[in-house]
Amino acid sequence: MNTQSNDLAHNKEEQRQQWDSVAIGWKKWWLTIENGAQDVSKRMIELAEVKPGQRVLDIATGIGEPALLAASRVGPAGRVVATDLSSQMLDIARERATALGLTNVEFLEADAERLDFRDGSFDAILWRWGPTDLSNPSNALIAIRRMLTLDGSFVASVWEAGPKARPLASLAMTVAREMFDMPSPEPSPPENALETEMIDAGFSDVRTEEVTLTLAFASTDDCTQYLMDVSPGFASLFSDKSSGRQAEYRRRLAEKLQQYVTADGGVRIPNIALCAAGRR
Ligand SMILES: C[S@@+](CC[C@H](N)C(=O)[O-])C[C@H]1O[C@@H](n2cnc3c(N)ncnc32)[C@H](O)[C@@H]1O
Repeated sequence: MNTQSNDLAHNKEEQRQQWDSVAIGWKKWWLTIENGAQDVSKRMIELAEVKPGQRVLDIATGIGEPALLAASRVGPAGRVVATDLSSQMLDIARERATALGLTNVEFLEADAERLDFRDGSFDAILWRWGPTDLSNPSNALIAIRRMLTLDGSFVASVWEAGPKARPLASLAMTVAREMFDMPSPEPSPPENALETEMIDAGFSDVRTEEVTLTLAFASTDDCTQYLMDVSPGFASLFSDKSSGRQAEYRRRLAEKLQQYVTADGGVRIPNIALCAAGRR
């Protein structure tokens, strides 16, 4: 192995470990996540026109969405393959499939950048919250297109660009920068970057639409806890901070979240996702 491929393998292993470490947090907060994000999955499945009997691939499924919704749509004559880098995420996804009595979905540990299913294997490919974080999204998109049937569809969701897309993450980063020594923020990708990348990868009939999803928490403290539990970045940021610093962080973030606090002390935060769809 040369130095560059050594570095890549090392980064990938680090990512796997980071996602493994928050899998239990995803299980803990699943209702909160899914109460909002289920609308994104439903719209993705509509845009991909998933039907009974079809074969569907869900890339980076985490603890199993939108794979399990797709499995209920394709029914017993259909098949869903769900992949992820993290075996701990997949273990929870398998538990959820079993609890729901779904037997037409299989879970495979696989890097999204190295998927090698045969050409034309799937009628629909879904990817909720991807593929913008990859080192080379265009290669992944070319492979996705190849794995679709001739009239197959790919639908991915990403966050809209700008602070209104994910207010909690944006405010949380603002407070983190105020309090801790942080690297400067990466520039946001241009608006509709995914749509452009899909067109460049050869997809046709490419279109994007917004879906609003609301995350609801019992308190502002829950918002901080949620970030620490589900986000690999925040989990590692807080791993070496004293309880005093963590308390100070909670206090400052709570102040910034006041605009989202409801009469009963809960917190309701609207977010904006983009669903991009295209055909092979
Ligand atoms: C934000 S979570 C989204 C999970 C799921 N799609 C959902 O919407 O609930 C991101 C997931 O991507 C997985 N992941 C990150 N990089 C990956 C890669 N290169 N290949 C496969 N999965 C990856 C992580 O393990 C994690 O489960």
